Amino acid sequence: MSVLIDKQSDSFLYQQVIELVDAMQTSGTLRPGDKLPSLRKLSRQLNVSVPTVKQAYIELERLNKVEARAKSGFFLKAAQLDINAPKRASFTRRPVAVRCQTLIEESYEAVHSPNVLPLGVSHPVMAHSPDKMLSRIMRRILSQAGPKAMAYGPMDGFPPLKRQITQRYLEQGVEVEQSDIVITNGAQEALAIALQCVAGPGDVIAVESPTYFGILELIENFGMMALEIPSCSESGVCLDDLQDSLAKHNVKACIFSSLINNPTGSCMPEEKRRKLVEIVEKRKIPLIEDDVYGELAFSEDQILPLQAYSKKGLVITCSSFSKTAAPSYRIGWLVTHRFEQKAKGLKRALSCSSSLLNQMVLTEYLRSGDFDRNLVRLRQVLKQNKERMLSLIAAHFPHGCCVSKPQGGGVVWVELPPGHDAIEWFRKCVEIGISITPGQLFSASGKYKRCARISYGLPWTEKVEQAIIDIGQIACSLRKH
Ligand SMILES: Cc1ncc(COP(=O)(O)O)c(C=O)c1O
Repeated sequence: MSVLIDKQSDSFLYQQVIELVDAMQTSGTLRPGDKLPSLRKLSRQLNVSVPTVKQAYIELERLNKVEARAKSGFFLKAAQLDINAPKRASFTRRPVAVRCQTLIEESYEAVHSPNVLPLGVSHPVMAHSPDKMLSRIMRRILSQAGPKAMAYGPMDGFPPLKRQITQRYLEQGVEVEQSDIVITNGAQEALAIALQCVAGPGDVIAVESPTYFGILELIENFGMMALEIPSCSESGVCLDDLQDSLAKHNVKACIFSSLINNPTGSCMPEEKRRKLVEIVEKRKIPLIEDDVYGELAFSEDQILPLQAYSKKGLVITCSSFSKTAAPSYRIGWLVTHRFEQKAKGLKRALSCSSSLLNQMVLTEYLRSGDFDRNLVRLRQVLKQNKERMLSLIAAHFPHGCCVSKPQGGGVVWVELPPGHDAIEWFRKCVEIGISITPGQLFSASGKYKRCARISYGLPWTEKVEQAIIDIGQIACSLRKH
């Protein structure tokens, strides 16, 4: 068993013991009500000290996952396992015009108000921020490159950064050439360019539901229509529904996040991802892949972007460093393939180029290996935060509430029991200085009135724990409609 503890890792030993107990619980080796191994037994098995195991058990108790019984030992609590994943919504399967801007504005305002704890923003890198490393690199670049770093950069991106990104795809076995990459102002600009490459006003865009509201906002602003395809919180978009919808409607393009959906944290299994690309490419429909969270998947297995399965060059991948390095840098990219010329023209027209200084810093960050090292730790921290969040939700949210079990990223998707209104919940949370994101934002047709997205992507503190308990109590006290 001691092979499960890595003494060279920079994760604390007691945290590794916690992860081990979590893994035993997930695999079913430990069931609710089971007694945990005694301190001495586990310390022998793992070759760690008794105080290390004790620290882990005390932390598990504090997280409400285990219960200490006098003279008997520690026992696994049932609550966390009792909570179900949200069910699929029902759909009319008609394209709809999107109207979501007012609620988006209200939600942004709440996130950016001073003194509000921002559980309503998806900013996962905050959980283990590389800010110090990045500022060291920036100072060095400024002193070496001087005014050159302040100039306009090349329109489609700083070549060394494009090389680093290309290299990362090639290392995964995904065929990408440097000329396919266009650097953008975050993934949001990449998505805007991708959409305009393949569709225009009045066109129907298939989106998964729930989906990231930034995509819906683009569809709304471009005068396009959204066709919602149901997505489940475990394995992403439902392919049978997609095939039905593609057969019935003249869909101009699809936008999906197959690797870690925002808001549910779902991750499509590999076979499903391959099939998805096959279905849309067979119909010659461009597929825009929103892959901002791919690097934050918790799985140890390599998970490839949809781009890897494309045979006809119809997949446009959009991603960024916003979730893995620094959202304020506003550096993202597109993998364009067939749409290279159109995408480059749109980038030039929209913003000329992206910050050269920030691209130089990121290039150095990637080249040094610090980006990958920080990612390893970031994923560990996020996974642990997720477990803590789920256990607090199980203990403090209303009976009958459902929650997604994210497979990566930094947010959970919560569905309150029937009769509850998540917008009322959101507003009451803002009143006590905590923001969450109301579920309706994630649907083109105003679904998910009982849902909300809550972030665990921030440094974990007692204040955060208390905030989760507080919003759970508010949910319990909501009027039933
Ligand atoms: C799924 C998804 N796509 C795209 C974006 C936009 O990313 P960026 O900040 O790089 O523009 C976000 C940001 O929250 C997101 O969650």
